[in-house]
Amino acid sequence: MEIINKIMWLGGISVEDLMEEYGSPLYVYEDEIIRSQYRQLYESFSGITIQIHYAMKANPNPAILKVLLEEGAWIDAVSPMEAQLALDVGFPPEHILFTGNNIPLREIEYCLERKVSINIESLSLLEQYGQAYPGENVSIRINPGIGSGHHAHCITGGPKSKFGIYHDQLEQIHQILHKYNLVLTGIHSHIGTGILDPKPMLEALEMTVASASQFSNLQFIDIGGGFGIPYHPTQSPLKVEDLGQQISNSFQQFCEKYGKKLDLKIEPGRFLVGSSGTMLATVNNIKKTPEYHFIGIDSGFNHLLRPALYGAYHRICNASRMEGDEVPVIVAGNICETGDVFNHTPEGLVAQPLSSVQLGDRIAIMDVGAYGMAMSSQYNLRPRPAEVLVKQGRAHLIRKRETYDDLMRGFVMSNPE
Ligand code: LLP
Repeated sequence: MEIINKIMWLGGISVEDLMEEYGSPLYVYEDEIIRSQYRQLYESFSGITIQIHYAMKANPNPAILKVLLEEGAWIDAVSPMEAQLALDVGFPPEHILFTGNNIPLREIEYCLERKVSINIESLSLLEQYGQAYPGENVSIRINPGIGSGHHAHCITGGPKSKFGIYHDQLEQIHQILHKYNLVLTGIHSHIGTGILDPKPMLEALEMTVASASQFSNLQFIDIGGGFGIPYHPTQSPLKVEDLGQQISNSFQQFCEKYGKKLDLKIEPGRFLVGSSGTMLATVNNIKKTPEYHFIGIDSGFNHLLRPALYGAYHRICNASRMEGDEVPVIVAGNICETGDVFNHTPEGLVAQPLSSVQLGDRIAIMDVGAYGMAMSSQYNLRPRPAEVLVKQGRAHLIRKRETYDDLMRGFVMSNPE
């Protein structure tokens, strides 16, 4: 992001030009940021074989997937359709690891028919897999007993989490492997998301390799995603260089003890794409109550759910006037719910300072590349925005704005008899 003549520019194009061309509201992604995040993460590991599986749930737009394919990423998929899209974009099936939660065996079958690798996260599914595919390879997700994350909904390890096979059930895993002659080739864990403290990630690695040491035919260990990004100016970025080095060292030591060089997999989503995305919207209304100064925009939690769902902070700017006197405001959407404001934080609603907003100004909500458009909806029958990827100073439409017809698709209009 740059400021030229007091206006926000993204990837070398002014916000005004972007909105004139593609309309409002609009999601804009900067290609260069995705690539540099990927490279920074990749280069932080050394002395080990690392595979970076992009957690495509963060942003499944095929154009974004292609950027990461070009960079050398592999894929973490959580549904058969995610896996299918990754295949369609050109990822080799063996570079896609499918980890579904609470899924039926037929989703595993779907992936195996397409040669996509699968990862199993419950004893009952492992049993069904054994019955259906005796003698085959398999990898499993364990719950290493600890979790971390930016919100309680986003902690995926520890005794309260629904994910994985709890790490004290290794004996049951052994029994099923033995019963069906299965070969355990990988151990996976993922403790949560939005983590800015390296400590829980390193602890989870230790717990995961402790479980891994109980199995003798492994080829890889996967420690999931969770690498956070700073959303608030007071948050410090994760020191990925240090974390990558520490993970590399611990992993190397484990491999020495294990007696074999294994591959290490990680599954970042947010870290790769989060800071690449900005949501732009237009000011339709300015309103005051005894409590708040509201700025009303042509978007809402239907387009960016994170603040309303998790109290997640996103920095907001007046992209049309990046300098000037600032007033604390609440930026509100056009959805018919009081919670449809973008200023939720873990501490409650906090007004953000914006420089003298006028009708028609463009508002930018920052760092929305991950779990932004991916979690959008058509609530209130408002179509989703268009998406644009900015690359080398040129904008490319990568998803069309939805229309009335898109909203109607699937409704059966004839009355029941
Ligand atoms: N691997 C697995 C198995 C996961 O469940 C996830 C995220 C990831 C990798 C990627 O995590 P990341 O590197 O992006 O932290 N909607 C929430 C985030 C939910 C993440 C779910 N799983 C949010 O907006 O914060």
